[in-house]
Amino acid sequence: MRVLITGGAGFIGSNFVRWFLENRPGDSVTVLDKLTYAGRMENLEGLPADRLRFVKGDIADADAVKDATEECDGVVNLAAESQVDRSSENPGEISQTDGFGTYVLLERARTRGPRYLQVSTDEVYGSIDEGSFTETSPLDPSSPYSASKAGGDLVVSAFHHTYGMEALICRASNNYGPYQYPEKLIPLTVLNALHGDPIPVYGDGMQVRNWLYVTDHCSGIDAALRKGEPGQVYNIGGPDEMPNIEVVRTILRLTDRDESLIEYVKDRPGHDLRYSLSSAKLAKSLGWEAEVGFEEGIRRTVDWYRDNEAWWEPVRSGDYREYYERQYGRALG
Ligand code: NAD
Ligand code: DAU
Repeated sequence: MRVLITGGAGFIGSNFVRWFLENRPGDSVTVLDKLTYAGRMENLEGLPADRLRFVKGDIADADAVKDATEECDGVVNLAAESQVDRSSENPGEISQTDGFGTYVLLERARTRGPRYLQVSTDEVYGSIDEGSFTETSPLDPSSPYSASKAGGDLVVSAFHHTYGMEALICRASNNYGPYQYPEKLIPLTVLNALHGDPIPVYGDGMQVRNWLYVTDHCSGIDAALRKGEPGQVYNIGGPDEMPNIEVVRTILRLTDRDESLIEYVKDRPGHDLRYSLSSAKLAKSLGWEAEVGFEEGIRRTVDWYRDNEAWWEPVRSGDYREYYERQYGRALG
């Protein structure tokens, strides 16, 4: 099998490429990635060149997609503009990639025939006060990011219903682990703590997220790709939920810092208060379960950032500084 992995130079994409090449020794990968600020060739270093082809290009560009799908039997679409705060700065770019780009990929997959898996997010369901979302919960997205992802999901379902395509969707909760760009809560907090910089916590820090270690997401994607039923949606939720402030406190403990670094800042507009996903369907029908709890996963993650300064130092000294200043109204230390 040769699988096209779009967005394969990003956080989850590069972890999935690595996981797939390690766990599926007979298979090969083509990566199609535009290499935005979030996509880096460094994320793919050390992987076997004879089983990995890289194509630089945009999923919304039909020619690039045609080239990249040559000889592929499956498509896993991870390419996206993935950050909620940036999505409210630039909603047009987000819908171009997450919505229209999904359509371009599907159109190619439809005429060529490979199996298609859309990697989506729990954010399409919106926020939930109690209990957990299942695959039949209504879509109720609240940011330009989640609305564009929901739009992409609807096009996937429509292509399955209209053309009988072997297309399916998985929706995951918040991922964390190695190679995550430090615009997201966990890597941002780890790097700021390692530097002794203030840690920005939105609002009162009581918003709840459902944390999924990235390799558990990878095994869920692989299960859905191989054994999932076309037309179906599978939720992939992490084993642990907690308020953001608890995540920050845990990282401060692991980096030997105290809570004086915490800085409560202006809340995110339209901030979703709680995400929670039930993965019962994926567990029952495809035998998937998460293997890494938060305590173990966050320890591995902090260790990885501590040991990989060569990976994050160029990020922290580049364009990211401008983004940080714009977003938080203060310079990085
Ligand atoms: P990321 O921002 O780290 O990586 C996105 C990748 O997509 C980058 O390599 C970027 O260069 C590439 N890309 C962006 N626009 C592109 C385009 N037009 N054409 C080709 N490549 C393009 O994102 P991530 O956190 O790894 O998320 C990957 C996918 O998983 C996204 O679809 C996201 O919606 C979904 N997801 C993420 C999470 C999470 O917690 N991070 C949770 C659930 C679902
Ligand atoms: O739920 C899945 C989603 O998780 C994915 O679809 C998105 O691609 C991914 O970015 C993530 O979205 P969130 O908005 O939940 O993740 P983020 O890391 O940006 O924020 C996590 C929580 O932490 C959220 O409640 C906002 C808060 N936060 C975030 C940052 C960056 C802070 O309090 N301070 C911060 O500086």
